[in-house]
Parts: sequence; C-alpha cells; structure tokens
Amino acid sequence: MLIRRPPDIPPSEITPRSVYLCRRELLTGAAGLAALAALPNSLARAAPAAFPKSPFSTDETATRRKDATSYNNFYEFGTDKADPAAKAGALTTHPWSVTIDGLVAKPQTLALEDIVASVTLEERIYRLRCVEGWSMVIPWIGFALADLLKRAEPLGSARFVAFETLVRPEEMPGQRGLFQPLPWPYREGLRLDEAMHPLTILATGLYGESQLPSQNGAPLRLVVPWKYGFKSIKSIVRISLVEAQPETTWQALAADEYGFYSNVNPEVDHPRWSQATERRIGEGSGLFAKRRPTLKFNGYGDQVAELYAGMDLRANY
Ligand code: MTE
Repeated sequence: MLIRRPPDIPPSEITPRSVYLCRRELLTGAAGLAALAALPNSLARAAPAAFPKSPFSTDETATRRKDATSYNNFYEFGTDKADPAAKAGALTTHPWSVTIDGLVAKPQTLALEDIVASVTLEERIYRLRCVEGWSMVIPWIGFALADLLKRAEPLGSARFVAFETLVRPEEMPGQRGLFQPLPWPYREGLRLDEAMHPLTILATGLYGESQLPSQNGAPLRLVVPWKYGFKSIKSIVRISLVEAQPETTWQALAADEYGFYSNVNPEVDHPRWSQATERRIGEGSGLFAKRRPTLKFNGYGDQVAELYAGMDLRANY
C-alpha cells in the first residue's frame, strides 16, 4: 500500500470551505433520487439533493471535496494518488448489479436502482484514516449495510462477510500489463457482527451528491470508519456470507503488515512506520504539515470497542 511517500497537494487544487458550505446550503429536495441513480455520473453531480443527517456524523470540518476526489487509492486504476481521478471516468457504472450469495436463505442479484429504491439514503460524515498515515473527513451519502444483508436473510452458520470488486481490465488500466500491483479482484472481509454494526455503511454518494465519483468507488463502496481505509472496498459487485474468515487482498500480499481486523490503533505500529499520528489532508503540506494524534478505533471506540472485548488487538491487528 505505502509504496512511497505520497506527494502533497498544491494549495491551488483546493476548493475553499466557504464554497463547499455554500453549495451544501443550496441543496434542495430529496425527490427523484431513484431517477438520479440511473443517470451517468457526469449528469448526476449537477443535481444534488438534501439527505437526512445522521446522529453518527462527526461535526469535524469536512475535507475539501477537491481533495477527497483527487487524492485517492484505487489500484485498479494505478498506484499513484492522481491515477483514479484521471482514469476512473472510463468505468461503466450503469447498469450495475450486486450479487449476494453464500450462506443466505435468499441469494439474489440486485440492480443498483433496486437497492437504492429499497433503502433510505442519509448523510454520514465520517473520519477516514488510511493505514499510510493520512486522514480525511468525508460526508458520505449511504445506508446501513445491515439493511441490505437482512434482505438476503443470513443463515445461522454465516460468521463472516466477503466483498469483491469487479475485474474489468478493458476499463481498469491497473489490471492490465506486466506490472500488476495486486491480485484481482480486490477482496475484503468483515466479521458478521462488524458488517451488521450501524456504523458500517454502503456509500452511493458524497458531499450532498447521490452518486459517487468513479475514483471514490462508484457506484457502491463500503465505509467502515473505525478501520484503516483499505477495508472500505470500492465498486462492489459481490457480497458473500461465509463461515470461515475470508482471505483479503492485502493479507494475501503481506499478511505481516495488513491484518484481517485492521482496526485503527495508535498503539500498534505498522512494521515499517508508526501509527501514533496522522496528517489530515488539507492541514498544511510539506514541512508545514501538521500531525494530529491518531485515536483508537479512529475515535469510534464508544460505539465499537465492545465488538472486541477480551480480544488481543496486538495479535489480531
Ligand atoms: N477498493 C478497491 N477496489 N481498490 C483499491 O485499491 N483502496 C483502498 C480503499 N478501497 C482500494 C479500495 C484504500 S488503500 C483506501 S485508503 C480507500 O479505498 C481510499 O478511499 P478514497 O480514495 O475514497 O479516499
């Protein structure tokens, strides 16, 4: 993941907060959301809507939209932070369907529009802490993953949830050629109780917009705010309920560096760097970059620490 130190973002790339706030204040009406979901990304951004606020949102200042959509990790489009914004526009995100299978009473393949029509989208403003040592605050639009999983009726034998992104080398340049940074498809997993936790969401949009920019994982990506960002798999096509702990992409690549749990934890360093502090994107750059202390469970301990009661978090990193 951290192959080299990421370049800092030039100030010219940054949208003033006043502009972002102003845009949010102008948002009107939630009508037509299902219709919006069917629009190509380029059109959808022009028609933002208001979404219910969530008590789970942080009141911390949101990262500028420009930063959150131009400084990304999405290795299917390349390993540089700028690659996803430059190349992910080629991804066909409509039509899109998601298969839910494995240990469920009702295995099913759902069109994205049907998923969106069956849930209540809301705004969740979450901290995102990347294992590389940077962080952002992103206003996601999404819904609880539990709402979707319940539709498939998980069986009693299901203990974990495995997620997969699609393999489409013709549209994903990172999946072509001799140098393959990762084994595809990108795979992630959660324990079932983590997946059912109310903080765990599937995001369809951000910054008041019902659709995600492709570089952020359009049309549907996971967001698990108390875990390092790589757990939040983008552009999901398959969700499987399974009995055994599934192998994840980063574990397959370097199991000693990237564990299955990957809960944000300032007390457990990555083998190659400290996790005690983080650089909030937008808070100074280069020599002037401020670092702030990293919070255990990324500050969501009150809600999630009980999931790990009695567990050795150093052994289960
Ligand atoms: N999902 C897929 N399919 N491919 C990826 O390369 N990168 C992960 C995660 N999800 C990744 C992915 C990593 S390392 C991070 S930090 C977050 O996405 C970044 O999300 P963002 O670009 O929206 O900030």
